[in-house]
Amino acid sequence: MERRKFIKSCCTVGLGLPLLGVGFQSCEAAHYATVKSDAEKLTVLKSEFITEGKSARSFVLLSIKEYGFPICLFKTSEDSYVASLLKCTHRGCELNVGGGIYSCPCHGSEFSTSGKVLEGPADQDLKTFKTTTDNDNIYIYVS
Ligand code: FES
Repeated sequence: MERRKFIKSCCTVGLGLPLLGVGFQSCEAAHYATVKSDAEKLTVLKSEFITEGKSARSFVLLSIKEYGFPICLFKTSEDSYVASLLKCTHRGCELNVGGGIYSCPCHGSEFSTSGKVLEGPADQDLKTFKTTTDNDNIYIYVS
């Protein structure tokens, strides 16, 4: 089975959020994290990646009105995270999250969870944000 068909056959969960029409093609339920923000950074509790009685989340979504698109905060290792704006660099469609990649429903571009182009027509990587952590928090630097 082709990778793309496999991803689409996995399971589809759609959320009808008023401002964010993010599509999810994932067996992992999407979760919008609570975010604190100031002029330079966003702060998300690490506990947002913990679920009751289930395995830990691999990603959470952040709803930031100023960007018009969600940010996906993806956990890449025990204490490492990548924050990517889910705006396709081809023509600006909102990306889907699922199958360990970001995919564009408009013309088929695909990006890795680190924001790198995997498949065109997009030829630029996603906008990503520097992240740091402490014991309890993840900081995403947006300025
Ligand atoms: Fe995403 Fe064209 S807008 S591939």
